[in-house]
Amino acid sequence: MLINGPNLNLIGNRDPSIYGKKTLIDIENACIKRANSLNYDIECVQSNHEGQLIDWIHTTKHAGIVINAGAYTHTSIAIPDALVSVELPVVEVHLSNIHNRESFRHISYISKISIGMICGFGAIGYELAIEALIHYIDNLHK
Ligand code: DQA
Repeated sequence: MLINGPNLNLIGNRDPSIYGKKTLIDIENACIKRANSLNYDIECVQSNHEGQLIDWIHTTKHAGIVINAGAYTHTSIAIPDALVSVELPVVEVHLSNIHNRESFRHISYISKISIGMICGFGAIGYELAIEALIHYIDNLHK
């Protein structure tokens, strides 16, 4: 499952010098293609509301989660708590390199519970995150 958090519905228009010119629909379509080419189904969701993100995490039927929690990355304890509670593998993704931006973006509470993070590569980072998660899931029991 691909989960996007607050303000990511605006990418394409929002600070294109930081977040790029691709829209969320462009990114989701690329992720669907990439996942399908690796024989996985993927569901893509986005919300600006923390509780909605948590409800989706609780009810997902998918084998793993790729998440860009937007600014909640740096503030939310409830989202990583939800991710831990469903015991699914999690890969974190960010369009920008959160480590070379303002210091308040350097902390990610999601990183404390994720397998790994891809950040700074723009839209392609989502496809890389999907591929990394699928590789992880496919090799879990080997
Ligand atoms: C972001 C980075 C966050 O700091 C920011 O609040 C976002 C987007 C990224 O993808 O680079 O909304 O998660």
